[in-house]
Amino acid sequence: MKLVLLGPPGSGKGTQAEKLSKEFNILKISTGDILRDAVHSNTELGRRVKEYLLKGRLVPDEIILDLMSQKLGNLKGFILDGFPRTLPQAIGLEKRTDIDFVVAFVLPNTTVISRLSKRRVCIKCGAVYSLDANPPLRKNICDRCGSKLRIRDDDKKSTIRKRFLVYKRETKPLEDFYKKKKILRYLDGNGSADEVYRRLKKLISNKV
Ligand code: AP5
Repeated sequence: MKLVLLGPPGSGKGTQAEKLSKEFNILKISTGDILRDAVHSNTELGRRVKEYLLKGRLVPDEIILDLMSQKLGNLKGFILDGFPRTLPQAIGLEKRTDIDFVVAFVLPNTTVISRLSKRRVCIKCGAVYSLDANPPLRKNICDRCGSKLRIRDDDKKSTIRKRFLVYKRETKPLEDFYKKKKILRYLDGNGSADEVYRRLKKLISNKV
């Protein structure tokens, strides 16, 4: 299966991608995770993209397309979380491979803003928690690797606002792009992660 998850910041793309990837053993590729890792490890890529992430701006298309062309190679199946995010990226992806479905998450801004304010992440292993929906067993400690949890750098209020504006301007128009290709499916992102997951599986059931 070749799947793209599209949705505003905090809509649950990463959470759902992780579930699908585990259950069906499909590779999940999250551009946000790759870029954050690169920043954390202070690689050349990390140094080039650090300021964009901090400010909630999109990393330039050339950098992303280059990165994704290496990651996609000749993969037969994948779940893309956070890519494509602009029209040039969508066109770049289309030139490389076909896509079965693009799933667009739908939920109110108030819900996603509240989810982002409760998100905590492990900088070491990348695990994601929610203070109310999916809290760690020990306060501020990662269940998986025992490291300290943090608020993501771009989850500060002013940066969240910027990320939403960027999403509306650059990424939301992709819904029309994929609607015309008849591969867009809307997903109600309200409710618990398990409820959303059940709906997601129904939407793509003829491909998994
Ligand atoms: P990226 O990491 O992709 O950020 P994003 O799209 O803003 O999405 P998030 O990771 O914030 O949220 P999510 O939808 O994955 O939600 P999650 O599952 O974590 O990108 C970060 C930055 O990298 C960008 O701003 C940009 O600078 C750069 N970048 C990345 N890709 C790029 C590209 N292609 N081009 C250019 N630049 C790029 O859930 C959020 C919280 O809610 C968590 O705490 C979770 O536990 C909780 N939660 C999830 N589901 C539920 C539920 N159903 N109920 C209650 N809580 C829930």
